[in-house]
Amino acid sequence: MSTAPDLRRDGHANGSPEEKPEIVISIRHLSNSFGEQIVHEDLDLDVRRGEILGVVGGSGTGKSVLLRSIIGLQTPDSGEISVFGQQVIGRPDSELQPIRKRWGILFQGAALFSTLTVAENVQVPLREFYPRLSEKLLDEIAAYKIVMVGLPADTGSKYPAELSGGMKKRAGIARALALDPELLFLDEPTAGLDPIGAAAFDTLIRDLSKRLGLTVFLITHDLDTLYSICDRVAVLADHKVVAVGTIPELLALDHEWIQEYFRGPRGRAAEEANEAAAEEEAAARGEDSRR
Ligand SMILES: Nc1ncnc2c1ncn2[C@@H]1O[C@H](COP(=O)(O)OP(=O)(O)OP(=O)(O)O)[C@@H](O)[C@H]1O
Ligand SMILES: [Mg+2]
Repeated sequence: MSTAPDLRRDGHANGSPEEKPEIVISIRHLSNSFGEQIVHEDLDLDVRRGEILGVVGGSGTGKSVLLRSIIGLQTPDSGEISVFGQQVIGRPDSELQPIRKRWGILFQGAALFSTLTVAENVQVPLREFYPRLSEKLLDEIAAYKIVMVGLPADTGSKYPAELSGGMKKRAGIARALALDPELLFLDEPTAGLDPIGAAAFDTLIRDLSKRLGLTVFLITHDLDTLYSICDRVAVLADHKVVAVGTIPELLALDHEWIQEYFRGPRGRAAEEANEAAAEEEAAARGEDSRR
């Protein structure tokens, strides 16, 4: 667990791969404000290759602003952000293009284009980055991504207004995966879903991340999501990342918000559900191994 990540000039692990995980996103001394309102002050965070990093914090603590800073939609007051070892702040769009190609984003609320069908939505990034792809290939890629996220094949011809909340989120993931990214940003992916839909969505994210070797930056309030799929969790409070670690590591900290969040009734329920699921999985594995 670390509260102050090691400084690395180039954003990559400088030791051997066994000793230090590769760092995909490195944030140092980040400050953001709107007028008098300070959102981030001297914020540090590292995201490791291949991990699902949960980002939590009270509403308005700056989780979405942090995401917007990383992807270049918000110019910070100061600080450094490197993605795949390259500085992103203040870089012209032309220099950011090759980096942007390597990530996909699901914004808070899915943010599909309402006048486009699902297939056309998935094709938006493809048309932007690969303008010479044929219509036939665009259709094939969209159809593949739509099925990949567990949507029925005929969803491609539907408009966002014709979809349920969960289907919209899946369509948003299909669009985020359009360019075969290495890095996926998800802002509140399970918000507004019923518990069964949310659990199915968690499973989808975990399976996709494993299958595609993705690094996932996952903003969430959902304790079940944190317990069931996140490798580590970063906690935003007091304008900073006050702690990063596994949930047991965070639970060991004497921090009021962390204790209230994870030890409150919802936190305990999520912990118990996670323990029960782990027991079930272990039992299932035991049966399999006897076969
Ligand atoms: N474009 C903007 N102009 C002015 N203030 C902004 C802007 N964007 C965000 N803020 C403010 O910055 C703070 C952090 O906002 P942000 O959207 O990052 O919160 P959040 O942690 O994502 O919250 P939630 O959990 O509710 O999504 C809020 O107080 C918000 O009002
Ligand atoms: Mg937000």
